[in-house]
Parts: sequence; C-alpha cells; structure tokens
Amino acid sequence: MRIDVFSAKPHDLVFMREAAKGINLDLQFHEARLNPDTARLAQSAQVVCAFVNDELGCDTLAVLSELGVELIALRSAGFNHVDLRTAQQAGIAVARVPAYSPHAVAEHTVALILTLNRKTHRAFNRVREGNFALDGLMGFDMHGKVAGIVGTGLIGTVLARILTGFGCEVLASDPYPSAECEALGVRYVEMDEVLGCADIITLQCPLTPDTHHLIDDAAIARMKPGVMLVNTSRGAVVDTRAVIRGLKSGQIGALGLDVYEEEGDLFFEDLSQSYIPDDVFARLLTFPNVLITGHQGFFTREALRAIAETTIANITQFQHTGAPLHPVTLPE
Ligand code: NAI
Repeated sequence: MRIDVFSAKPHDLVFMREAAKGINLDLQFHEARLNPDTARLAQSAQVVCAFVNDELGCDTLAVLSELGVELIALRSAGFNHVDLRTAQQAGIAVARVPAYSPHAVAEHTVALILTLNRKTHRAFNRVREGNFALDGLMGFDMHGKVAGIVGTGLIGTVLARILTGFGCEVLASDPYPSAECEALGVRYVEMDEVLGCADIITLQCPLTPDTHHLIDDAAIARMKPGVMLVNTSRGAVVDTRAVIRGLKSGQIGALGLDVYEEEGDLFFEDLSQSYIPDDVFARLLTFPNVLITGHQGFFTREALRAIAETTIANITQFQHTGAPLHPVTLPE
C-alpha cells in the first residue's frame, strides 16, 4: 500500500519510519504542503497523510478522488481543515489521531502562561546583556488567581490538573463537563462568567462553526481589564484584529498564541532570510506583552511517537478492514 506523506519534516521521516518498521507499507515523503497544485504528487497512492496546515478543501479532494486515493490519514487531532462532506461524497475515508499527548499541549500552554507572567523571555535577553534591572519584569502569584478554561476535553483536563496544582481557582466552560475536572474542584459556569471572572483565559476547544471567532470584540469587552489570554487550540477561535484592539486599549494585558488564523503561510517554515508577508501578524509581534510560538504545542518526542504509531494503526486497520481505527465522520 502506498502512502504519500505531505508537509513532511525531518522528524516525520524518523517517527513514521520507526512506527512502520516491519510493516509492508510504501511511505513516500513530500516536503510540500498539500493543496490542489501539489495533490498530483500522490499519483498511485491509496493513502494521503496530511498535517494541520494542509489544504483539504473540495479542490484538493477532487484531485485526490481522481487519483483513486481511498484514505486521508491526518497526523492531527483537529480536522477543521477537511471538507468532510466532499470527502464523504467522494468515498474517501478520513482518519485522525484523537489523542497523542494531551500533556504536550497542556504543558506548552503552561509554559506560555508562566513566561508571559514572569517575563522570562525578556529576563533571558537582559541578563545576557549584563542588565540585571528588574523594572518591567514584575509578575503575579499564580496561587489564588482565577483561571478560565474554554473546553475541558483531553487537553483542557490535563491543564486543569496543572493549574489546580498551582493553587488557581479554575472555572470552565464546556457543553460536556468532565467528571475528572469536577472532581478536581473545577467549577463549570457559562462562558460569560469565564470571560468576566478569569485572570487567565485559555482556549482548548476545537475550531468549529460555533467557535470561529469565539473571542471577538464583544467577548474581549466582557473580560477583566488586563486579562491574560492564551490560545493553543486553533487560530481562528480568536479574531486577531479584535485582539490587537484589545492589546492597544490595555483590556488584554498579555497574549500567548501557539496558533494563528492565517498561520498556513507562516508556520513550520524558516522565513528568517525573507520577510513576514502578513501585516496583522507583524503588528502582533510589536507588542512587548505578546508571546507567539509557531504551533509547537504538540512537539514533544512522546507526542510525535504516538502520532506516528496511531497514524500507522489507522492505515493498517483500513488496509485490513476497510475502515480506519479512528474515523472522522460528519456530525449528525
Ligand atoms: P477534545 O475533543 O478532547 O476536547 C475539546 C473539548 O472542547 C470538548 O470537551 C468539547 O466539548 C469542548 N468544546 C467544544 N465546543 C466548545 C465551546 N463552544 N465552548 C467550550 N467548549 C467547547 O480535544 P483536545 O484533544 O483536548 O484538543 C482540543 C483542541 O486543541 C483540538 O481541537 C485542536 O484544535 C487543538 N490542538 C492543538 C495542538 C497544538 O499543537 N497547539 C495540538 C493538538 C490539539
């Protein structure tokens, strides 16, 4: 069975080959992002393996369908970038990796929170320049602060465990409360209460039509002045222009992002010898209280190993039974 792996980075080669050891699969790696133009690279593939910024809209799917691709195996939990209806109509199955390491993303979220709070990114540079002045570096005790988690699935639950460990009071909003979170003392409230009461708000919900621009001007206006907002879910959960307005007015006191709504043209590439083609993103980089990482929440060796193993399991199950281990289906 031939599998064409798109957006393949050196670490993908290592972990995918390791997971496929001893299994008769023909893995073909492409550095290119999958889009309607590059889809033809998957000539004679039965499976296309895609990542978060690959384009899986109707144009790409039309090409893949014409080529006879039977399965799209996502190396991600999120599947917002796949036109599921078109895939279903074309008879192409879609699989994902529902859980690989919720710890990886939850811990990265905490890294962003602590860095923004204690300004270790700025302290690092200062100390290396022999500047030991403390002005501008003051943070706050996490203990006793109110943290609001939007979405307490796998990642949100791990995050709740860590934040309660710090002594935070944790509020959460989720249509499906988690018993584990409730046992930790997390209090489920309406989204408005999360927005109005939290000192730190973190977004751990998927991107869906309901959560698109969940954080907009109106939501920001309801937040506590000086709130810290962290998004490690999907970029478009946040309206970036609204957040820039919130930063300029001081309503948002600190912003941590691992995802960005237009990240497809930026993230995972080295643009250091070029320029940043996105003026909104470039504006974000001018704020001293903004910390951005390039979608690296998932990037631990444990997570990469689990992603590769589950992806290969999805493919072999599909090979043997005609259905992947973790199918993505259209909502009812
Ligand atoms: P999950 O499916 O276990 O949990 C998502 C939770 O969000 C569910 O409990 C769901 O009920 C809740 N939810 C849905 N709509 C909501 C709304 N409108 N308001 C509040 N809660 C809502 O997913 P998991 O594994 O925890 O991942 C969450 C998201 O994190 C993924 O969908 C993905 O977009 C993102 N992610 C980011 C990564 C990164 O590297 N930064 C890596 C992996 C996932």
